[in-house]
Amino acid sequence: ATNDDASDKEVYTVATDNGYVPFEFIDEDSGDLVGFDIDLINALAEEAGIEIEFEVLEFDGIVAGVSSGRFDVGIAGMTITEERQESIDFTQPYYEAGLILAVKEGNEEIQSIDDVDGKVVATRTGSTSQEYLEANTEANAEAFPGIIEAYQNVLAGRADAVLYDLPNVSYYSEKEAGGELKTVGEKLTGEDYGIAFPKGSELRDVIDDALTSLKENGTYDDIYEEWFGE
Ligand code: ARG
Repeated sequence: ATNDDASDKEVYTVATDNGYVPFEFIDEDSGDLVGFDIDLINALAEEAGIEIEFEVLEFDGIVAGVSSGRFDVGIAGMTITEERQESIDFTQPYYEAGLILAVKEGNEEIQSIDDVDGKVVATRTGSTSQEYLEANTEANAEAFPGIIEAYQNVLAGRADAVLYDLPNVSYYSEKEAGGELKTVGEKLTGEDYGIAFPKGSELRDVIDDALTSLKENGTYDDIYEEWFGE
Protein backbone atom coordinates (compact mmCIF):
# COMPACT_ATOMS: atom_id res chain seq x y z
CA ALA A 1 0.00 0.00 0.00
CA THR A 2 1.34 3.40 -0.92
CA ASN A 3 -0.17 6.84 -0.75
CA ASP A 4 1.35 7.79 -4.06
CA ASP A 5 -0.78 9.06 -6.88
CA ALA A 6 1.29 10.55 -9.66
CA SER A 7 -1.52 12.50 -11.25
CA ASP A 8 -3.07 14.07 -8.18
CA LYS A 9 -0.51 15.62 -5.90
CA GLU A 10 0.31 19.27 -6.21
CA VAL A 11 3.69 18.97 -4.57
CA TYR A 12 5.73 15.80 -4.19
CA THR A 13 8.08 15.38 -1.27
CA VAL A 14 11.66 14.41 -2.08
CA ALA A 15 13.75 12.97 0.75
CA THR A 16 17.50 13.58 0.63
CA ASP A 17 20.28 14.40 3.04
CA ASN A 18 22.78 17.27 3.15
CA GLY A 19 26.14 15.69 3.87
CA TYR A 20 27.13 13.87 0.70
CA VAL A 21 29.42 15.87 -1.60
CA PRO A 22 28.96 16.42 -4.49
CA PHE A 23 25.49 14.85 -4.66
CA GLU A 24 23.67 16.75 -1.92
CA PHE A 25 25.27 19.23 0.44
CA ILE A 26 24.92 22.76 1.77
CA ASP A 27 26.75 25.43 -0.18
CA GLU A 28 28.79 27.34 2.37
CA ASP A 29 28.29 30.73 0.79
CA SER A 30 24.62 30.62 -0.09
CA GLY A 31 23.41 28.19 2.56
CA ASP A 32 21.45 26.41 -0.21
CA LEU A 33 21.05 22.69 -0.71
CA VAL A 34 23.03 21.95 -3.88
CA GLY A 35 24.59 19.06 -5.78
CA PHE A 36 24.31 16.64 -8.66
CA ASP A 37 21.24 14.86 -7.24
CA ILE A 38 19.53 18.17 -6.51
CA ASP A 39 20.06 19.46 -10.05
CA LEU A 40 19.04 16.13 -11.52
CA ILE A 41 15.78 15.76 -9.60
CA ASN A 42 14.88 19.41 -10.31
CA ALA A 43 15.45 18.82 -14.03
CA LEU A 44 13.44 15.58 -13.87
CA ALA A 45 10.55 17.32 -12.12
CA GLU A 46 10.57 20.02 -14.77
CA GLU A 47 10.63 17.44 -17.56
CA ALA A 48 7.76 15.55 -15.92
CA GLY A 49 5.79 18.72 -15.20
CA ILE A 50 5.53 18.21 -11.45
CA GLU A 51 6.35 20.32 -8.41
CA ILE A 52 8.68 19.04 -5.71
CA GLU A 53 9.88 20.08 -2.28
CA PHE A 54 12.87 18.73 -0.37
CA GLU A 55 12.88 17.13 3.03
CA VAL A 56 16.36 16.70 4.54
CA LEU A 57 17.05 13.81 6.90
CA GLU A 58 19.78 11.35 7.86
CA PHE A 59 20.60 8.95 5.04
CA ASP A 60 19.70 5.83 6.99
CA GLY A 61 16.11 7.07 7.48
CA ILE A 62 15.42 7.58 3.78
CA VAL A 63 14.61 4.00 2.75
CA ALA A 64 12.13 3.55 5.62
CA GLY A 65 10.53 6.95 4.96
CA VAL A 66 10.08 6.25 1.26
CA SER A 67 8.84 2.70 1.76
CA SER A 68 6.18 3.86 4.25
CA GLY A 69 4.99 6.47 1.75
CA ARG A 70 5.92 9.36 4.01
CA PHE A 71 8.03 10.66 1.12
CA ASP A 72 7.14 10.32 -2.56
CA VAL A 73 10.72 10.18 -3.77
CA GLY A 74 14.18 9.56 -2.32
CA ILE A 75 17.38 10.70 -4.02
CA ALA A 76 20.61 10.43 -2.04
CA GLY A 77 23.33 8.69 -4.02
CA MET A 78 21.52 5.53 -3.06
CA THR A 79 22.85 2.25 -4.38
CA ILE A 80 20.30 -0.10 -5.93
CA THR A 81 20.53 -3.28 -3.82
CA GLU A 82 18.39 -6.39 -3.74
CA GLU A 83 17.69 -5.87 -0.07
CA ARG A 84 16.40 -2.33 -0.63
CA GLN A 85 14.36 -3.50 -3.60
CA GLU A 86 12.30 -5.58 -1.22
CA SER A 87 10.82 -2.42 0.28
CA ILE A 88 11.19 0.28 -2.39
CA ASP A 89 11.20 0.63 -6.18
CA PHE A 90 14.05 2.26 -8.10
CA THR A 91 14.42 4.01 -11.42
CA GLN A 92 16.96 2.81 -13.96
CA PRO A 93 20.54 3.55 -12.80
CA TYR A 94 21.55 7.21 -13.05
CA TYR A 95 25.14 7.07 -11.78
CA GLU A 96 27.80 4.39 -11.65
CA ALA A 97 29.77 4.40 -8.41
CA GLY A 98 31.67 1.87 -6.28
CA LEU A 99 33.57 1.77 -3.02
CA ILE A 100 37.11 2.96 -2.36
CA LEU A 101 39.40 2.89 0.65
CA ALA A 102 41.24 6.00 1.85
CA VAL A 103 43.86 6.62 4.53
CA LYS A 104 45.64 9.60 5.99
CA GLU A 105 48.54 10.87 3.90
CA GLY A 106 51.72 9.21 5.17
CA ASN A 107 50.06 5.93 6.11
CA GLU A 108 52.04 3.33 4.17
CA GLU A 109 50.76 0.35 6.10
CA ILE A 110 47.38 0.13 4.40
CA GLN A 111 47.79 -0.20 0.64
CA SER A 112 44.54 -1.96 -0.15
CA ILE A 113 41.51 -3.66 1.36
CA ASP A 114 43.72 -6.71 2.06
CA ASP A 115 45.50 -4.73 4.78
CA VAL A 116 42.53 -3.69 6.92
CA ASP A 117 42.03 -6.76 9.09
CA GLY A 118 42.21 -5.75 12.73
CA LYS A 119 42.25 -2.05 11.78
CA VAL A 120 39.60 0.54 12.58
CA VAL A 121 37.78 1.42 9.38
CA ALA A 122 35.30 4.29 9.54
CA THR A 123 32.16 4.54 7.42
CA ARG A 124 28.58 5.67 7.47
CA THR A 125 25.75 3.91 9.30
CA GLY A 126 23.45 1.94 7.04
CA SER A 127 25.63 2.30 3.94
CA THR A 128 26.72 -0.32 1.46
CA SER A 129 30.30 0.19 2.69
CA GLN A 130 29.35 -0.78 6.23
CA GLU A 131 27.84 -3.95 4.83
CA TYR A 132 30.91 -4.58 2.69
CA LEU A 133 33.26 -4.32 5.67
CA GLU A 134 31.18 -6.66 7.75
CA ALA A 135 30.77 -9.24 5.00
CA ASN A 136 34.24 -9.20 3.45
CA THR A 137 36.84 -8.15 6.00
CA GLU A 138 37.98 -8.68 9.57
CA ALA A 139 38.27 -4.93 10.07
CA ASN A 140 36.85 -3.25 13.10
CA ALA A 141 34.12 -1.30 11.28
CA GLU A 142 33.09 1.91 12.97
CA ALA A 143 29.97 3.50 11.54
CA PHE A 144 29.11 7.16 12.03
CA PRO A 145 25.76 8.85 11.35
CA GLY A 146 27.52 11.33 9.03
CA ILE A 147 30.43 10.52 6.73
CA ILE A 148 32.20 13.79 7.59
CA GLU A 149 32.78 12.42 11.09
CA ALA A 150 34.30 9.30 9.56
CA TYR A 151 36.76 11.41 7.54
CA GLN A 152 37.58 13.55 10.55
CA ASN A 153 38.37 10.47 12.62
CA VAL A 154 40.84 9.29 10.00
CA LEU A 155 42.46 12.72 9.74
CA ALA A 156 42.72 12.89 13.55
CA GLY A 157 44.33 9.45 13.66
CA ARG A 158 41.49 7.84 15.63
CA ALA A 159 40.57 5.55 12.73
CA ASP A 160 43.01 3.89 10.33
CA ALA A 161 40.99 4.19 7.13
CA VAL A 162 37.63 5.09 5.67
CA LEU A 163 35.63 3.03 3.16
CA TYR A 164 32.98 4.83 1.16
CA ASP A 165 31.65 5.69 -2.28
CA LEU A 166 34.41 6.68 -4.70
CA PRO A 167 32.88 9.93 -5.99
CA ASN A 168 32.37 11.19 -2.43
CA VAL A 169 35.84 10.16 -1.24
CA SER A 170 37.51 11.75 -4.28
CA TYR A 171 35.57 14.98 -3.99
CA TYR A 172 36.16 15.20 -0.25
CA SER A 173 39.91 14.48 -0.50
CA GLU A 174 40.40 17.01 -3.28
CA LYS A 175 38.22 19.85 -2.10
CA GLU A 176 37.96 19.54 1.66
CA ALA A 177 40.80 17.53 3.13
CA GLY A 178 43.65 19.74 1.92
CA GLY A 179 45.71 16.84 0.55
CA GLU A 180 45.63 15.00 3.89
CA LEU A 181 43.53 12.05 2.73
CA LYS A 182 44.56 9.66 -0.07
CA THR A 183 42.70 6.83 -1.76
CA VAL A 184 44.40 3.43 -1.88
CA GLY A 185 43.81 0.29 -3.93
CA GLU A 186 41.22 -0.40 -6.57
CA LYS A 187 37.56 0.51 -6.73
CA LEU A 188 35.95 -2.37 -4.87
CA THR A 189 32.43 -2.90 -6.12
CA GLY A 190 30.37 -1.71 -9.01
CA GLU A 191 27.34 0.09 -7.61
CA ASP A 192 24.53 1.83 -9.47
CA TYR A 193 22.62 4.69 -7.95
CA GLY A 194 18.88 4.80 -8.43
CA ILE A 195 16.07 7.15 -7.42
CA ALA A 196 13.75 5.55 -4.86
CA PHE A 197 9.95 5.38 -4.67
CA PRO A 198 7.36 3.58 -2.58
CA LYS A 199 6.51 0.14 -3.98
CA GLY A 200 4.07 0.35 -6.85
CA SER A 201 4.51 4.10 -7.28
CA GLU A 202 3.17 5.46 -10.59
CA LEU A 203 5.43 8.43 -10.19
CA ARG A 204 8.38 6.06 -10.57
CA ASP A 205 7.43 5.39 -14.19
CA VAL A 206 6.93 9.08 -14.91
CA ILE A 207 10.36 9.98 -13.49
CA ASP A 208 12.01 6.99 -15.14
CA ASP A 209 10.71 8.15 -18.55
CA ALA A 210 11.88 11.68 -17.81
CA LEU A 211 15.32 10.25 -16.97
CA THR A 212 15.46 8.48 -20.31
CA SER A 213 14.63 11.78 -22.04
CA LEU A 214 17.27 13.75 -20.13
CA LYS A 215 19.89 11.11 -20.97
CA GLU A 216 18.92 11.39 -24.65
CA ASN A 217 18.62 15.15 -24.97
CA GLY A 218 21.94 16.08 -23.34
CA THR A 219 20.56 17.59 -20.14
CA TYR A 220 21.91 14.70 -18.07
CA ASP A 221 25.37 15.18 -19.60
CA ASP A 222 25.31 18.91 -18.85
CA ILE A 223 24.51 18.29 -15.19
CA TYR A 224 27.14 15.54 -15.01
CA GLU A 225 29.76 17.83 -16.55
CA GLU A 226 28.96 20.55 -14.07
CA TRP A 227 29.68 18.36 -11.04
CA PHE A 228 32.17 15.80 -12.32
CA GLY A 229 33.81 17.50 -15.29
CA GLU A 230 37.43 18.60 -15.15
N1 ARG B 1 25.84 4.55 -2.01
C1 ARG B 1 25.88 4.26 -0.60
C2 ARG B 1 24.60 3.58 -0.19
O1 ARG B 1 23.65 3.60 -0.92
C3 ARG B 1 26.09 5.50 0.23
C4 ARG B 1 25.10 6.59 -0.02
C5 ARG B 1 25.21 7.75 0.92
N2 ARG B 1 24.36 8.80 0.51
C6 ARG B 1 24.09 9.88 1.25
N3 ARG B 1 23.29 10.76 0.76
N4 ARG B 1 24.62 10.04 2.43
O2 ARG B 1 24.53 3.00 0.86
